[in-house]
Parts: sequence; structure tokens; C-alpha cells
Amino acid sequence: MRRSVLVVMALAVIVFVTLAFSRKDEPWKNLKVLPKDITQKQMDSVMDHFSVALNVDCGFCHVEKNGDMDFALDDNKHKLVARDMMNMTNEINDKYFDYTGAKRTITTQLMVTCYTCHNGQKMPAVQKTEEIKKSIGPWKGN
Ligand code: HEC
Ligand code: HEC
Repeated sequence: MRRSVLVVMALAVIVFVTLAFSRKDEPWKNLKVLPKDITQKQMDSVMDHFSVALNVDCGFCHVEKNGDMDFALDDNKHKLVARDMMNMTNEINDKYFDYTGAKRTITTQLMVTCYTCHNGQKMPAVQKTEEIKKSIGPWKGN
């Protein structure tokens, strides 16, 4: 009797472990640009890049639900802008910086990234600052 209980428990553990591992690579619910099989480590790296490039934290683009961050929700307009920006950045790289002709993957080093334009700012500078205008002297063009 005791033995069969042990066997059932062992089986339950095996089923649980198998389920846990088979879910490992696809916990994502709402990806429209990133590859659906992106790993947790790659996802962390992409999201860290976004945050550092714009000098914001996760909550700038993501929202909470019932006290926890729900990263799959699209209820923050910055997330929607970010998705457009991802498509734009991919297009720029594919069109103008495709040196090898190789298919772009999640590990390809892109020449133009969020950081290229944003450089640690939410809104990239589109004109010279007053400080730079002063430092370049008499020419006052934009
Ligand atoms: C500049 C905006 C921005 C910032 C900052 C940002 N994210 Fe995201 N995040 C996105 C976008 C856009 C997507 C959806 C990508 C897609 O559709 O392929 C996303 C998707 C995700 C997902 C996948 C959700 C799912 O299941 O579909 C996770 C997890 C996530 N982000 C975590 C984070 C974490 C953690 C941080 C902070 C370190 C962070 N994000 C910072 C824009 C952002
Ligand atoms: C070619 C330059 C360029 C690149 C590359 C770029 N951005 Fe942007 N981004 C801009 C400009 C310019 C604006 C301001 C647009 C405006 O004022 O309407 C902006 C605005 C944004 C905003 C809105 C900020 C706000 O305060 O509402 C988000 C979010 C954003 N970008 C995310 C990203 C992410 C994420 C990436 C990389 C996937 C990226 N951007 C790559 C130029 C760029």
C-alpha cells in the first residue's frame, strides 16, 4: 500500500517537472514583433536595452494589474509607440545596414538601435541645445 502511494507521488512529480520544462521557452502571451520562441534571457536583454536607451524603468511602457506587473497588456500608449519604433528600427537596419544579406535573428548585432537615436532620453533631441549653439559661436543656424 505504502509503496503504491510512493509510486503515484513519483509519477506526479515526473508529470509536474515535464510540464514545467515544456513551458519553459514559450511563456509569452502577446508578442507581435519579437520572435515567439525568444528565451527569457534574450527577453531580459531586449527589455534592458529599451530601458537604458530611454533612461526609463519597465513601468514607463508596462502596467500593473491586481498589484503585479502584467507585461502582456497593451494598455500603455508608450508600449504601442515602442512597438512601432521596433518595426521602424528593424526596417532601417534591413534596408540600409544589411551588409551580409544574412537573415536577421534575435542575436544579430544591429547598427541602428534604440540607443542610436534616444541616447538615454525619452524624446531624442531633434535640434541643438542652447549650450551647443553657444559653443559653436557666431553661426546660429538650427
Ligand atoms: C520603451 C518601452 C518598454 C520598456 C521600457 C520595457 N518594455 Fe517590455 N515590452 C515592450 C514592448 C513593445 C513589448 C512587446 C514586444 C512585441 O510585441 O514583440 C514588450 C514585451 C515585454 C514582455 C513580454 C510580455 C508577453 O508575454 O507578451 C515582457 C516579459 C517584458 N516586456 C518585460 C519588461 C521588463 C521586465 C522591463 C523592464 C526591465 C520592460 N519590459 C521594459 C516595451 C517596453
Ligand atoms: C531613427 C531614430 C529612432 C530610433 C532608432 C528609435 N526611436 Fe524612439 N523616438 C524617436 C523620435 C524622434 C521620437 C519622438 C517622436 C515624437 O516626438 O513624436 C521617439 C519617441 C519614442 C517613444 C515615445 C516617448 C514618449 O515620451 O512618449 C518611445 C516609447 C520610443 N521612441 C521607443 C523606442 C524604442 C523602444 C526604440 C528601439 C526599438 C526606438 N524608440 C528607436 C526616434 C527613434
